[in-house]
Amino acid sequence: MTSSLENPEARAIIDAAITSRRSVRAFLPDPIEPDIIRDILDVASRAPSGSNTQPWRVYVLTGAARAELSRKILAAHNDPVEIAQHTEEYAYYPRRWIAPFQDRRRKIGWDLYGLLGLGRDNKAGMHAQHGRNYQFFDAPVGLIFSIDRVLEQGSWLDYGMFLQNIMIAARARGLDTCPQAAFTPFHRIIREHLQMSENEMLVCGMSLGRADESKIENTLTTERESVEGFTTFLD
Ligand SMILES: Cc1cc2nc3c(=O)[nH]c(=O)nc-3n(C[C@H](O)[C@H](O)[C@H](O)COP(=O)(O)O)c2cc1C
Repeated sequence: MTSSLENPEARAIIDAAITSRRSVRAFLPDPIEPDIIRDILDVASRAPSGSNTQPWRVYVLTGAARAELSRKILAAHNDPVEIAQHTEEYAYYPRRWIAPFQDRRRKIGWDLYGLLGLGRDNKAGMHAQHGRNYQFFDAPVGLIFSIDRVLEQGSWLDYGMFLQNIMIAARARGLDTCPQAAFTPFHRIIREHLQMSENEMLVCGMSLGRADESKIENTLTTERESVEGFTTFLD
């Protein structure tokens, strides 16, 4: 099995599935066949996990279930009083930003808002763009991920591999994704909507569909540090 992948064609295809993945923030509304979604999740579940714990739990939202969740979260997002009552259960980002992370974070933010013509003083425009997260950027499929609270930091490593597998398996089917931590403050709304049990913690969301290539936000390119910049080679 493994050796059959040891050829230049397989390498090129696998590398392309990885390197062509990008966070898409405008989708076509075309529905995705339920069998394709199931297939992607089936492939992704081959992700490794410590002692094969498989810490993932997934909610697939389409149609009215997806639209209704978007409506509820957007109502909270757009209400200045209510939004303050929603805070995340776990810190995705550091409390105190330092270089180089802060610079990278700023760059992607300004690059995206720049493309959309949103100046630094346009708070309403940025708020509205952030709100697009809760419409799953118009994707036909919204994924919500949870983890059992009993699981520790190690399981979150496993979870990342599962999420990446979904995104790569989607690429192999001509589909696009955007992983979304933006959902984390709204865990109470999501818990109620999905009837999640109290021992589940919201990990993140993800949009899944086909990119709308006519939209400017999908022309965003992101940079990476060079291998030499983040690696120490020892001999
Ligand atoms: C776990 C996770 C959460 C993310 N949350 C959001 C989000 O809420 N909204 C968003 O637009 N992008 C989100 N992103 C996308 C990142 O901004 C993106 O991965 C990064 O800028 C690199 O760009 P690329 O994915 O196009 O390569 C998230 C990425 C990850 C891995």
